[in-house]
Amino acid sequence: MTTIPGYRHGDPTLPASPVRPDDLERMKKTCLFGEADAAALREAKEKLAPHVEAILDVWYGFVASQPHLVAAFAEPGGPPSAEYLGAVRRRFGQWILDTTSADYSPAWLDYQLEIGRRHHRIGKNRADGVEAADHIRFLDLIPLVYPIFATIRPFLEQGGTPAARVDAMQHAWLKSLLMQITLWSHPYVREGDF
Ligand code: HEM
Repeated sequence: MTTIPGYRHGDPTLPASPVRPDDLERMKKTCLFGEADAAALREAKEKLAPHVEAILDVWYGFVASQPHLVAAFAEPGGPPSAEYLGAVRRRFGQWILDTTSADYSPAWLDYQLEIGRRHHRIGKNRADGVEAADHIRFLDLIPLVYPIFATIRPFLEQGGTPAARVDAMQHAWLKSLLMQITLWSHPYVREGDF
C-alpha cells in the first residue's frame, strides 16, 4: 500500500461500490475488453512507469492552458492552488500505474466510486482539505478522455515499439478509460438509471 496522501485504493473503510463485479464483466463485454487488453495494459505499464512525471507534465500543461479546467483547482475567481495541484498530481501518477495494472478487484471498484465522488460536489476537495471550486461539471468529464487517450501514444512508442503493439496498448488504454469514466459518473446519474 502506498503512502500517497489521500490515496485510498484498498482502504476497507471506503463505501462499497453499488456496481458489482458482474456489472463490470458486462461493461467489459460491451466495450470488447478481453484478456488481450489486460495483457496489453500490463505491457503498457513497463513503457509508462519510467515516464510518469513526463506524462503528468504533458497533462498538467494541457489543464493549465485551459482556464475553464484549471479553475477546478482554484477558489472561485482566485488563482490555482499549487498545493492542491501537487497533491492531486501524486495520486494521478499512481492512477497511471493502477490503470495499467488492470486489476479489477472489488477494492478497485470501490475506489472508482470514490474517484467519481471526488469530481462531484459530494466529495470534491475533501481528500486534500481544500476550498477550491466545489464541483466538476459532467460535460467536461467525458471529453477529457480524448486528450488523455491521444497524448499517451508518444510514451507508448518510446524505444521503437512496433506500431501494432502501440495500437494494442493504446486501444486497451482507451477501453479502460471509458470504463473508468463511466464508473466515475455514478454520482452524476439519476438514482435508478445507472
Ligand atoms: C478522462 C477524464 C479524467 C481523468 C482520467 C481524471 C483523472 C483524475 C485522477 C486520477 C484523479 C485523482 C484521483 C484520486 O484522488 O486518487 C483526479 C482528481 C481530480 N480531477 Fe480528474 N480526471 C478527469 C476529468 C477531470 C476534469 C474534466 C476535471 C476538471 C478540470 C478534473 C479535475 C480534477 C480535480 C480538481 C481533482 C481533485 C479532486 C479532489 O478534490 O479530490 N478531472 N482526476
